[in-house]
Formats: sequence, structure tokens, C-alpha cells
Amino acid sequence: MLPCSILAGCGGYLPERVVSNDELARTVDTSDSWIQERTGIRQRHFAARHETSAFMGAAAARAALADAGATPDDVDAIILATSTPDQAFPATALRVQADLGVKRGFGFDLSAACTGFIYGLSVGDALIKARQATGVLVIGSEVYSRILNWQDRGTCVLFGDGAGAVFLRAGADDGPANRRQGILSTHIHAQGTLGDILYVDGAVGQPDKPGHLVMNGREVFRHAVTRLAEAVDEALAANGLARSDVDWLVPHQANRRIIDAMGRKLELPAERVVVTVDRHANTSAASVPLALAEACRDGRIRKGQLVLLEALGGGLTWGSALVRM
Ligand code: ACO
Repeated sequence: MLPCSILAGCGGYLPERVVSNDELARTVDTSDSWIQERTGIRQRHFAARHETSAFMGAAAARAALADAGATPDDVDAIILATSTPDQAFPATALRVQADLGVKRGFGFDLSAACTGFIYGLSVGDALIKARQATGVLVIGSEVYSRILNWQDRGTCVLFGDGAGAVFLRAGADDGPANRRQGILSTHIHAQGTLGDILYVDGAVGQPDKPGHLVMNGREVFRHAVTRLAEAVDEALAANGLARSDVDWLVPHQANRRIIDAMGRKLELPAERVVVTVDRHANTSAASVPLALAEACRDGRIRKGQLVLLEALGGGLTWGSALVRM
């Protein structure tokens, strides 16, 4: 029998500085009402100089370990999803490893834009099932404020900074999906031919091009609604579960309208959909674990409940994870 991956703890970190829509509107040609109407965003957190992806990722990981009652000695793999690493190398995951004082195992960064955390869960679960790891930190950590184009009001108002993390612990697989705990399934997808609808136009490997985020918002919106709806059906079908079995939807926090569409698709009442986009904006790979951590911490999501996580992002990448808490 294969081990299963128990989601033993989660945690998050948000930079201290909060920036309201009104504050943004002082330097960007926009307004609080435009941003709220189109996206549901009221504010976002922006990182200070010292709040890098490694710094925030380590803080979120510490919180996840504490929530799980685990220590750095229990960790043997660190997967850090980010599009905004501290350096090209070493991997930001290894800066976190050093910061936490983890003394064994391995770590690496994962690039799948806003779907990075779902990809990370999928890889972490596979490592546990392959018996290559028994304690995996999966982290999403982003400082999008450093790659935004402040001349492009269509994108710079949408994003924020932050980090979220979970600790996966190997557990005994105790049978069929309706009784099993932990990650029941993950499904991850990509379509490279859609790379030009959401991308960063540079990187450290390119001369004179640090890179800024570029997006065709309408195209992303169109694909998000279709692909995420398919991902939801796929996850339920793979586990022989019905929409009514899902207790909570924890979606990627890009846009209130996409989140609401997914809630309707699952026929879930609004109070069963975790929403943070109003306060965090879009924190890319950090958005799902930050939302999960918030709803676990405040007691909404409880042990034994079925939680559906989903995300879509640049690549195009998308995917889902179904987790019994
Ligand atoms: N403030 C005021 N006006 C603005 C702003 C702004 N910040 N941004 C754009 N506008 C104006 C445009 O200039 C345009 O004006 P015009 O009609 O005079 O030319 C008008 O608003 C409409 O612009 P659109 O870009 O067509 O706006 P749209 O209605 O498509 O909304 C949005 C943009 C919210 C990004 C939408 O496309 C969307 O929801 N996309 C989904 C993708 C998304 O949320 N991406 C986030 C990151 S990707 C991810 O995480 C999956």
C-alpha cells in the first residue's frame, strides 16, 4: 500500500505594508471603484526590501510547521513555487532550508506562475508516494510588486505580495477515497502555446531586460473560466465524488468574478468559498496556501472536511487538488 500525504499544517505571511486602492490611485491613473467593480480588490500588501520570497517563504513555513506540531528535523524536502525568486540560484527553497535550520534532504524551486502551489502539492504528494520523502514543505512565495509595470494600469492594480505554506507528512493509506485522509488527488495541466497571454517579458538570462508582467486580461479570463470548470469536474470524477461532497472551495485569488463563477459551478453557497482577493489581491503562487491558512486558522475549515483547491496562471498552467483535512 502506498503512503498518503497528510496536510498536517498550514501557515502564511503577509508584508506589513498595506496599500489601498486609493493610495495606488495617487500614482496610477485608476480609481477605487474601477478596481473593486472589476476585480473585488480593496487593498494589497507590498513587501519592504528585506521581505524577499525567501524571507516570507521561511516565515510561512515556520507557521506551517508550528501548526503541524512539527520541527525542522521533520522536513526532508522543500518545494518552493515562485516566479520571483531571490536569485537565479541557489534556489529560494534552499535559502529557506538554511533559514529554518533544516539539515537533511533536498529542495528546489518550481515555476508554474499562479498554479505553482498546486503543482507543488502534486510533486510533494508524488515524492511521498514514491517514498522519497516523509515530510515535505510546499511553499508559494511571491513579490510581484518587483515585476509590475507601473505604467500599465491594466495589470499593476491586480497583484500583491505574500507567502503561504503547508507541511505534508507521510501517513498510512487507509483505503478508498471516501475514507482516506490527506491529498486524494491532484491534476495538473499546461498549454505552452498560450504562453503569450500572460508572461514576464524578461529574465536574468536576457540582456538589459529585468522583466515586467504583461497580460491579455480578457483572454486569461476566458480560459480561466473554461479550464477551471473542467478541472473541478475532473477532480470530482477521479474520486467518484459529487459537487455536494465538497465542503470548501479554496480557489486561486485572481479576481472575484472568476471565484464567483467557480462557486456557482460547484453549486456552493458563497460562505463555502474562501475569499481573500479583497484584502490580498492576486499573490500568484502564494494565493491558495494563504487563503487555506486563513480559513484553517479562523476555524472555518475543520478536520475531516473535503477541500477543493484550484488555480490557473501563466504558461498557461492550471490544476486542482482535492484534500481531506
Ligand atoms: N483603472 C481604470 N481604468 C482601467 C484600468 C484601471 N486600473 N485598467 C484598465 N482600465 C480601462 C482600460 O483602459 C479600458 O478603457 P477604454 O475602454 O477607455 O479603452 C477599460 O478600462 C477596459 O479595459 P479592459 O482591459 O478591457 O478591462 P476588462 O474589463 O477586461 O477588465 C481585468 C480587466 C479585470 C484584468 C479583466 O480582464 C479580468 O478580470 N481578467 C481576468 C484575468 C485576471 O484577473 N488576471 C489576473 C492575473 S492572471 C491569473 O492570476 C490567472
